[in-house]
Amino acid sequence: MMSDPIIQTFNLTKLFDQKTLAVNKLSITVKPGIYGFLGPNGAGKTTTIKMLIGSLFPTEGRIEIFGKDALGKDIADIHKRIGYVPENPTYFMDMTGEELLEYVGSVFKIPQQKLISRISNLLRLVDLQDAKSRKIAKYSAGMKQRIGIAQALINDPDLLILDEITSNLDPLGRSKMVNLLKGLKNEGKTIFISTHILPEIEKMEADSIGIINQGQLILEGSIKELNEKLGTKIIKISPKHDLLREKLKHYALNIGETADELIIESDNPDQVWKIVNRISMENDIIINKFISSGLEIEQLFMKAFDITKKDIGVENK
Ligand SMILES: Nc1ncnc2c1ncn2[C@@H]1O[C@H](COP(=O)(O)OP(=O)(O)OP(=O)(O)O)[C@@H](O)[C@H]1O
Ligand SMILES: [Mg+2]
Repeated sequence: MMSDPIIQTFNLTKLFDQKTLAVNKLSITVKPGIYGFLGPNGAGKTTTIKMLIGSLFPTEGRIEIFGKDALGKDIADIHKRIGYVPENPTYFMDMTGEELLEYVGSVFKIPQQKLISRISNLLRLVDLQDAKSRKIAKYSAGMKQRIGIAQALINDPDLLILDEITSNLDPLGRSKMVNLLKGLKNEGKTIFISTHILPEIEKMEADSIGIINQGQLILEGSIKELNEKLGTKIIKISPKHDLLREKLKHYALNIGETADELIIESDNPDQVWKIVNRISMENDIIINKFISSGLEIEQLFMKAFDITKKDIGVENK
Protein backbone atom coordinates (compact mmCIF):
# COMPACT_ATOMS: atom_id res chain seq x y z
CA MET A 1 0.00 0.00 0.00
CA MET A 2 1.15 3.51 -0.79
CA SER A 3 1.35 4.85 2.72
CA ASP A 4 2.81 1.82 4.46
CA PRO A 5 6.03 2.88 6.14
CA ILE A 6 9.20 2.33 4.13
CA ILE A 7 11.38 2.40 7.23
CA GLN A 8 10.43 1.89 10.84
CA THR A 9 12.77 1.64 13.77
CA PHE A 10 11.77 0.47 17.22
CA ASN A 11 13.83 1.57 20.20
CA LEU A 12 16.91 1.51 18.03
CA THR A 13 19.96 1.91 20.22
CA LYS A 14 23.71 2.04 19.68
CA LEU A 15 26.14 2.14 22.53
CA PHE A 16 29.78 2.58 21.54
CA ASP A 17 32.54 1.31 23.81
CA GLN A 18 30.00 0.75 26.59
CA LYS A 19 29.88 4.48 27.22
CA THR A 20 28.82 6.58 24.22
CA LEU A 21 25.10 6.33 23.70
CA ALA A 22 25.06 7.54 20.08
CA VAL A 23 21.49 6.44 19.38
CA ASN A 24 19.06 6.08 22.23
CA LYS A 25 15.74 4.19 21.87
CA LEU A 26 15.04 5.82 18.53
CA SER A 27 11.64 5.00 17.00
CA ILE A 28 11.05 6.67 13.66
CA THR A 29 8.56 6.11 10.85
CA VAL A 30 9.51 6.98 7.30
CA LYS A 31 6.66 7.00 4.81
CA PRO A 32 7.03 7.22 1.02
CA GLY A 33 8.40 10.59 -0.08
CA ILE A 34 11.22 12.74 1.24
CA TYR A 35 12.13 12.42 4.90
CA GLY A 36 14.50 14.97 6.41
CA PHE A 37 16.53 13.52 9.27
CA LEU A 38 17.68 16.57 11.17
CA GLY A 39 19.95 17.10 14.10
CA PRO A 40 23.05 19.00 15.16
CA ASN A 41 26.58 17.63 14.86
CA GLY A 42 27.02 14.50 16.90
CA ALA A 43 23.27 13.91 17.25
CA GLY A 44 23.52 10.34 15.99
CA LYS A 45 22.42 10.73 12.36
CA THR A 46 25.29 8.85 10.74
CA THR A 47 25.18 6.10 13.36
CA THR A 48 21.45 5.62 12.68
CA ILE A 49 22.06 5.52 8.95
CA LYS A 50 24.83 2.94 9.30
CA MET A 51 22.41 0.72 11.20
CA LEU A 52 19.76 1.21 8.51
CA ILE A 53 22.09 0.16 5.74
CA GLY A 54 23.47 -2.72 7.75
CA SER A 55 27.06 -1.61 8.21
CA LEU A 56 26.66 -1.31 11.97
CA PHE A 57 24.72 -3.70 14.18
CA PRO A 58 22.42 -2.14 16.80
CA THR A 59 23.05 -2.70 20.48
CA GLU A 60 19.29 -2.96 20.92
CA GLY A 61 16.08 -2.42 19.02
CA ARG A 62 14.61 -3.41 15.68
CA ILE A 63 14.53 -2.08 12.14
CA GLU A 64 11.88 -2.79 9.53
CA ILE A 65 12.45 -1.76 5.94
CA PHE A 66 9.80 -2.40 3.28
CA GLY A 67 7.83 -4.07 6.07
CA LYS A 68 10.49 -6.72 6.68
CA ASP A 69 12.91 -7.31 9.53
CA ALA A 70 16.06 -5.56 8.31
CA LEU A 71 18.28 -7.42 10.76
CA GLY A 72 17.06 -10.88 9.86
CA LYS A 73 17.02 -13.31 6.97
CA ASP A 74 15.65 -10.82 4.42
CA ILE A 75 18.61 -8.53 4.83
CA ALA A 76 20.12 -9.24 1.40
CA ASP A 77 16.80 -8.71 -0.41
CA ILE A 78 16.24 -5.46 1.43
CA HIS A 79 19.70 -4.14 0.66
CA LYS A 80 19.22 -4.76 -3.04
CA ARG A 81 16.46 -2.17 -2.94
CA ILE A 82 18.48 0.50 -1.13
CA GLY A 83 20.88 3.04 -2.60
CA TYR A 84 23.26 4.75 -0.20
CA VAL A 85 25.55 7.76 -0.38
CA PRO A 86 27.85 8.04 2.64
CA GLU A 87 28.82 11.20 4.49
CA ASN A 88 32.43 11.17 3.33
CA PRO A 89 32.51 9.08 0.19
CA THR A 90 35.83 7.49 -0.53
CA TYR A 91 35.14 6.09 -3.94
CA PHE A 92 37.65 4.36 -6.03
CA MET A 93 39.38 7.56 -6.89
CA ASP A 94 41.57 5.90 -9.45
CA MET A 95 38.56 4.93 -11.53
CA THR A 96 36.75 7.19 -13.95
CA GLY A 97 33.12 7.99 -13.25
CA GLU A 98 32.02 5.56 -15.90
CA GLU A 99 34.27 2.79 -14.57
CA LEU A 100 32.84 3.22 -11.09
CA LEU A 101 29.32 2.77 -12.42
CA GLU A 102 30.40 -0.30 -14.41
CA TYR A 103 32.00 -1.75 -11.33
CA VAL A 104 29.00 -1.13 -9.05
CA GLY A 105 26.70 -2.49 -11.77
CA SER A 106 28.75 -5.68 -11.93
CA VAL A 107 28.50 -6.08 -8.16
CA PHE A 108 24.73 -6.03 -8.58
CA LYS A 109 25.07 -8.47 -11.50
CA ILE A 110 23.15 -6.26 -13.88
CA PRO A 111 23.20 -7.77 -17.38
CA GLN A 112 25.62 -5.99 -19.73
CA GLN A 113 23.10 -4.54 -22.18
CA LYS A 114 20.89 -3.19 -19.44
CA LEU A 115 23.89 -1.81 -17.60
CA ILE A 116 25.17 0.13 -20.59
CA SER A 117 21.89 1.93 -21.09
CA ARG A 118 21.42 2.52 -17.39
CA ILE A 119 24.89 4.05 -17.06
CA SER A 120 24.26 6.41 -19.90
CA ASN A 121 20.91 7.44 -18.38
CA LEU A 122 22.47 7.97 -14.98
CA LEU A 123 25.36 10.03 -16.34
CA ARG A 124 22.81 12.24 -18.04
CA LEU A 125 20.68 12.47 -14.90
CA VAL A 126 23.59 13.68 -12.77
CA ASP A 127 25.03 15.80 -15.55
CA LEU A 128 28.39 14.03 -15.78
CA GLN A 129 28.39 12.86 -19.40
CA ASP A 130 31.26 15.16 -20.24
CA ALA A 131 33.29 14.05 -17.23
CA LYS A 132 32.63 10.32 -17.48
CA SER A 133 36.14 9.50 -18.67
CA ARG A 134 37.91 11.58 -16.05
CA LYS A 135 39.30 10.10 -12.85
CA ILE A 136 37.05 10.62 -9.84
CA ALA A 137 40.07 11.95 -7.95
CA LYS A 138 39.95 14.94 -10.29
CA TYR A 139 36.24 15.62 -9.76
CA SER A 140 35.07 18.66 -7.80
CA ALA A 141 33.13 18.10 -4.54
CA GLY A 142 29.84 18.59 -6.36
CA MET A 143 30.79 16.12 -9.08
CA LYS A 144 31.84 13.55 -6.46
CA GLN A 145 28.46 13.94 -4.79
CA ARG A 146 26.71 13.48 -8.12
CA ILE A 147 28.67 10.37 -9.09
CA GLY A 148 27.79 9.16 -5.58
CA ILE A 149 24.10 9.56 -6.35
CA ALA A 150 24.56 7.85 -9.70
CA GLN A 151 26.29 4.82 -8.15
CA ALA A 152 23.56 4.66 -5.48
CA LEU A 153 20.93 4.55 -8.24
CA ILE A 154 22.57 1.84 -10.33
CA ASN A 155 20.24 -0.84 -9.06
CA ASP A 156 17.16 1.36 -9.44
CA PRO A 157 16.52 1.29 -5.68
CA ASP A 158 13.17 2.10 -4.07
CA LEU A 159 14.87 3.78 -1.15
CA LEU A 160 17.74 6.22 -1.30
CA ILE A 161 19.64 6.97 1.91
CA LEU A 162 21.81 10.07 1.80
CA ASP A 163 24.05 11.23 4.62
CA GLU A 164 24.68 15.00 4.53
CA ILE A 165 25.17 15.02 0.82
CA THR A 166 24.63 18.71 0.26
CA SER A 167 26.87 20.00 3.01
CA ASN A 168 29.88 20.88 0.88
CA LEU A 169 28.15 22.09 -2.25
CA ASP A 170 27.92 25.67 -3.43
CA PRO A 171 24.44 27.23 -3.80
CA LEU A 172 24.16 26.27 -7.46
CA GLY A 173 25.31 22.72 -6.77
CA ARG A 174 22.80 22.50 -3.95
CA SER A 175 19.94 23.77 -5.96
CA LYS A 176 20.75 21.25 -8.72
CA MET A 177 20.89 18.50 -6.11
CA VAL A 178 17.55 19.55 -4.65
CA ASN A 179 15.97 19.37 -8.11
CA LEU A 180 17.56 16.01 -8.78
CA LEU A 181 16.17 14.61 -5.54
CA LYS A 182 12.72 16.07 -6.14
CA GLY A 183 12.74 14.41 -9.55
CA LEU A 184 13.65 11.05 -8.00
CA LYS A 185 10.83 11.43 -5.52
CA ASN A 186 8.43 12.07 -8.39
CA GLU A 187 9.56 8.78 -9.89
CA GLY A 188 8.29 7.14 -6.72
CA LYS A 189 11.49 6.72 -4.76
CA THR A 190 11.65 7.34 -1.05
CA ILE A 191 14.52 9.58 0.00
CA PHE A 192 15.89 9.57 3.52
CA ILE A 193 18.30 12.45 3.86
CA SER A 194 20.21 13.56 6.90
CA THR A 195 21.38 17.12 7.22
CA HIS A 196 21.94 19.96 9.57
CA ILE A 197 21.27 22.45 6.79
CA LEU A 198 17.62 23.22 7.29
CA PRO A 199 16.78 25.42 4.30
CA GLU A 200 17.73 22.46 2.11
CA ILE A 201 14.97 20.35 3.51
CA GLU A 202 12.57 23.24 3.04
CA LYS A 203 13.53 23.61 -0.61
CA MET A 204 13.14 19.90 -1.12
CA GLU A 205 9.61 20.16 0.24
CA ALA A 206 10.25 17.25 2.54
CA ASP A 207 7.09 15.32 3.31
CA SER A 208 8.16 14.68 6.87
CA ILE A 209 10.99 15.49 9.17
CA GLY A 210 12.43 13.81 12.22
CA ILE A 211 14.53 15.89 14.57
CA ILE A 212 17.04 14.13 16.82
CA ASN A 213 19.38 15.31 19.50
CA GLN A 214 21.75 13.25 21.63
CA GLY A 215 20.50 10.12 19.95
CA GLN A 216 16.87 10.71 20.84
CA LEU A 217 13.90 11.65 18.72
CA ILE A 218 12.60 15.07 19.66
CA LEU A 219 9.91 15.61 17.06
CA GLU A 220 8.62 13.80 14.03
CA GLY A 221 5.89 14.45 11.49
CA SER A 222 4.92 16.53 8.49
CA ILE A 223 5.52 20.27 8.73
CA LYS A 224 1.76 20.71 9.05
CA GLU A 225 1.44 18.14 11.84
CA LEU A 226 4.37 19.60 13.71
CA ASN A 227 2.89 23.05 13.51
CA GLU A 228 -0.38 21.76 14.88
CA LYS A 229 1.42 19.95 17.66
CA LEU A 230 3.37 23.04 18.65
CA GLY A 231 0.42 25.40 18.16
CA THR A 232 2.61 28.45 17.72
CA LYS A 233 2.17 31.06 15.03
CA ILE A 234 4.49 33.63 13.57
CA ILE A 235 2.78 36.96 12.99
CA LYS A 236 4.27 39.66 10.82
CA ILE A 237 3.04 43.15 11.49
CA SER A 238 3.84 46.36 9.68
CA PRO A 239 4.46 49.19 10.39
CA LYS A 240 6.70 48.33 13.32
CA HIS A 241 5.40 51.06 15.56
CA ASP A 242 6.98 51.57 19.01
CA LEU A 243 3.61 51.47 20.73
CA LEU A 244 2.85 48.10 19.20
CA ARG A 245 6.23 46.73 20.13
CA GLU A 246 5.87 47.92 23.74
CA LYS A 247 2.41 46.49 24.21
CA LEU A 248 2.95 43.22 22.37
CA LYS A 249 6.07 42.46 24.36
CA HIS A 250 3.84 41.31 27.19
CA TYR A 251 1.82 38.92 25.06
CA ALA A 252 4.39 37.44 22.73
CA LEU A 253 6.37 34.26 23.35
CA ASN A 254 9.08 35.96 21.36
CA ILE A 255 9.40 39.26 19.60
CA GLY A 256 11.77 40.28 16.87
CA GLU A 257 11.85 42.52 13.86
CA THR A 258 13.04 42.96 10.31
CA ALA A 259 13.68 46.29 8.58
CA ASP A 260 9.98 47.06 8.34
CA GLU A 261 8.06 44.42 10.29
CA LEU A 262 7.54 43.26 13.81
CA ILE A 263 7.79 39.48 14.09
CA ILE A 264 5.70 38.09 16.89
CA GLU A 265 5.66 34.49 18.00
CA SER A 266 2.40 33.71 19.71
CA ASP A 267 0.15 30.82 20.60
CA ASN A 268 -2.83 33.16 20.56
CA PRO A 269 -2.98 35.14 17.29
CA ASP A 270 -6.56 36.31 18.02
CA GLN A 271 -5.39 38.05 21.14
CA VAL A 272 -2.49 39.65 19.28
CA TRP A 273 -4.90 40.81 16.62
CA LYS A 274 -7.23 42.40 19.21
CA ILE A 275 -4.36 44.31 20.78
CA VAL A 276 -3.00 45.48 17.45
CA ASN A 277 -6.47 46.53 16.41
CA ARG A 278 -7.13 48.50 19.59
CA ILE A 279 -3.77 50.28 19.62
CA SER A 280 -3.99 51.17 15.98
CA MET A 281 -7.47 52.67 16.47
CA GLU A 282 -6.50 54.62 19.57
CA ASN A 283 -3.37 56.02 17.99
CA ASP A 284 -4.31 56.38 14.34
CA ILE A 285 -1.78 53.81 13.21
CA ILE A 286 -2.62 52.32 9.86
CA ILE A 287 -1.80 48.64 9.88
CA ASN A 288 -0.78 47.56 6.43
CA LYS A 289 0.25 44.03 7.25
CA PHE A 290 -0.92 41.42 9.71
CA ILE A 291 -0.03 37.96 8.53
CA SER A 292 -0.16 34.91 10.75
CA SER A 293 1.50 31.71 9.57
CA GLY A 294 2.91 28.46 10.91
CA LEU A 295 6.54 27.92 11.70
CA GLU A 296 9.06 27.11 9.03
CA ILE A 297 11.47 24.24 9.44
CA GLU A 298 14.21 26.32 10.98
CA GLN A 299 11.79 27.76 13.53
CA LEU A 300 10.39 24.31 14.26
CA PHE A 301 13.91 23.06 14.79
CA MET A 302 14.73 25.81 17.28
CA LYS A 303 11.38 25.40 18.96
CA ALA A 304 11.89 21.67 19.28
CA PHE A 305 15.07 22.25 21.21
CA ASP A 306 13.43 24.84 23.43
CA ILE A 307 10.63 22.53 24.34
CA THR A 308 12.73 19.52 25.19
CA LYS A 309 15.06 21.64 27.27
CA LYS A 310 12.05 22.75 29.29
CA ASP A 311 10.47 19.30 29.37
CA ILE A 312 13.52 17.39 30.42
CA GLY A 313 14.98 20.19 32.48
CA VAL A 314 18.25 20.50 30.59
CA GLU A 315 19.83 23.85 31.13
CA ASN A 316 20.99 26.07 28.32
CA LYS A 317 24.66 25.74 27.62
N1 LIG B 1 32.77 4.31 15.85
C1 LIG B 1 32.51 5.09 16.89
N2 LIG B 1 33.03 4.83 18.11
C2 LIG B 1 32.76 5.59 19.18
N3 LIG B 1 31.92 6.66 19.15
C3 LIG B 1 31.34 6.95 17.98
C4 LIG B 1 31.60 6.20 16.79
N4 LIG B 1 30.88 6.74 15.77
C5 LIG B 1 30.22 7.79 16.29
N5 LIG B 1 30.48 7.92 17.61
C6 LIG B 1 29.90 8.93 18.52
O1 LIG B 1 28.50 8.84 18.44
C7 LIG B 1 27.90 10.13 18.49
C8 LIG B 1 27.02 10.34 17.27
O2 LIG B 1 27.84 10.45 16.12
P1 LIG B 1 27.26 10.52 14.64
O3 LIG B 1 28.40 10.47 13.72
O4 LIG B 1 26.21 9.48 14.50
O5 LIG B 1 26.58 11.97 14.63
P2 LIG B 1 25.98 12.82 13.43
O6 LIG B 1 24.61 13.25 13.84
O7 LIG B 1 26.11 12.09 12.17
O8 LIG B 1 26.91 14.12 13.43
P3 LIG B 1 27.44 15.03 12.20
O9 LIG B 1 26.34 16.02 11.90
O10 LIG B 1 28.63 15.73 12.79
O11 LIG B 1 27.77 14.15 11.05
C9 LIG B 1 29.03 11.11 18.63
O12 LIG B 1 29.20 11.40 19.99
C10 LIG B 1 30.23 10.35 18.10
O13 LIG B 1 31.41 10.78 18.70
MG1 LIG C 1 27.07 12.46 10.42
